Amino acid sequence: MSNINFEVPPSCKLAIVGDTGSGKSTLVKLIAGLYPISTGEIAYYYKNHRKEGVPKISYLLQDGYLFDTSIKNNIKIFNEKLSEEEVEHLIELCGLKNLNKAYTEETIGENGKYLSGGEKRRVELARVLANKDASIYIFDELTSSLDKNTARVLLNKVLKELNNKICIFIKHNLEFTEGMDLIIVIKDGRIVELGSYEELMNKKGYYHMLMLSSGQEKVHKADF
Ligand SMILES: Nc1ncnc2c1ncn2[C@@H]1O[C@H](COP(=O)(O)OP(=O)(O)OP(=O)(O)O)[C@@H](O)[C@H]1O
Ligand SMILES: [Mg+2]
Repeated sequence: MSNINFEVPPSCKLAIVGDTGSGKSTLVKLIAGLYPISTGEIAYYYKNHRKEGVPKISYLLQDGYLFDTSIKNNIKIFNEKLSEEEVEHLIELCGLKNLNKAYTEETIGENGKYLSGGEKRRVELARVLANKDASIYIFDELTSSLDKNTARVLLNKVLKELNNKICIFIKHNLEFTEGMDLIIVIKDGRIVELGSYEELMNKKGYYHMLMLSSGQEKVHKADF
């Protein structure tokens, strides 16, 4: 990757978009400290003071893994202090409440094989949100296995829940990016455009072209 240079202010909702293989997941793995960087640096600040090390990050992987236990246990796996009410809240928030009750208590099979793709994703989401003290939340293709309306509802709930946190949403399409504070467009491992939705649309560059070609320029903003 090269030409990567940007700042993310507190509470920022950031979208990283770009074609398949453009480097989106790689970029967030660098942010999360999962890969070493060869040149340049990534600096983390807390209240204007530079902090050593990588801050606590809660990360929804593009291809996550669920354990062969109940939904509740999967949600609590990285935060055992979570109260029963908090688990119930996450089950509700992530739209898992309507599942057969037994599902939340009984095993969901190796890597959630007894769940649908969308249900599995919701459990992975609940687990990410269960990490309440993270300062950065990364969602790699949160909504790609969901239909558009379900995706919009879920995204709005997540944004409300994480109102005061930095959130990074990786997306291969442009859906809902118009509601984000900052949009980064990646192409061939480089940032080709960066700005707010209005800035990028006014610029009439690559993002604008992608918006037009996906027929999304008339899509209303999600209500966040
Ligand atoms: N660990 C790795 N080692 C070497 N190359 C890698 C590695 N991971 C990814 N790549 C390559 O780097 C490029 C960017 O991959 P990346 O996973 O960041 O793409 P992406 O933008 O997230 O794509 P997608 O939308 O398909 O998830 C691809 O060409 C990929 O094959
Ligand atoms: Mg990816």
